[in-house]
Amino acid sequence: MTTQTEQQQAEQQEATQALYKRTLGSFPSGVTVVMAYDSDGKISGLTASAFSALSMNPPLVLVCPQYNSESYQALSQAEYFSINILADNQATEAFAFAKKGDAKQQAINELDIRQGLSGAPVLNNAVATMECARWHEYEGGDHAILIGRIEHMHCNDEQTPMVYCRGSFSALHTPEEALA
Ligand SMILES: Cc1cc2nc3c(=O)[nH]c(=O)nc-3n(C[C@H](O)[C@H](O)[C@H](O)COP(=O)(O)O)c2cc1C
Repeated sequence: MTTQTEQQQAEQQEATQALYKRTLGSFPSGVTVVMAYDSDGKISGLTASAFSALSMNPPLVLVCPQYNSESYQALSQAEYFSINILADNQATEAFAFAKKGDAKQQAINELDIRQGLSGAPVLNNAVATMECARWHEYEGGDHAILIGRIEHMHCNDEQTPMVYCRGSFSALHTPEEALA
């Protein structure tokens, strides 16, 4: 009887989590890659849609890596990290940074990454890049809320931003194109 109740609770939790993912996944977002060098000088990072502008003065942004992601420690400890807003032709980059372990390192080695002015690694050809100094970190359930102060910014206005919604990537359309 107890076992059945536990099983029911587990099923209920699973259903709630699936509905949470579907519900939140209905909100279209851009896609970022957040990167830093770890203590061994290796590029560490992850694909993240949980990104937001926060403050203009001082210039702050936030990003939310899951505590159990492998890159969390490096991102949390780095003096500088970069947030790169992906272009519609950067699915390779989005997939690479959504991998884990050796597969991720191999995929990262194939990418066009440079060292930014702050010393943090930066993705070439992103729509926009922010190099951030670590500012504050807060707890947000199973995700950390990392706040960075933007030290350097760069925009490639000719690039089209990638959009993520309902588990799929697409490209941002102008209202004219969307109505056509
Ligand atoms: C489009 C997209 C958005 C994502 N957004 C986030 C996010 O905001 N925060 C997060 O912790 N993981 C997010 N992920 C999942 C991580 O990128 C993924 O778990 C990655 O493998 C973590 O790598 P790591 O364990 O090496 O740090 C996202 C993945 C995709 C494909």
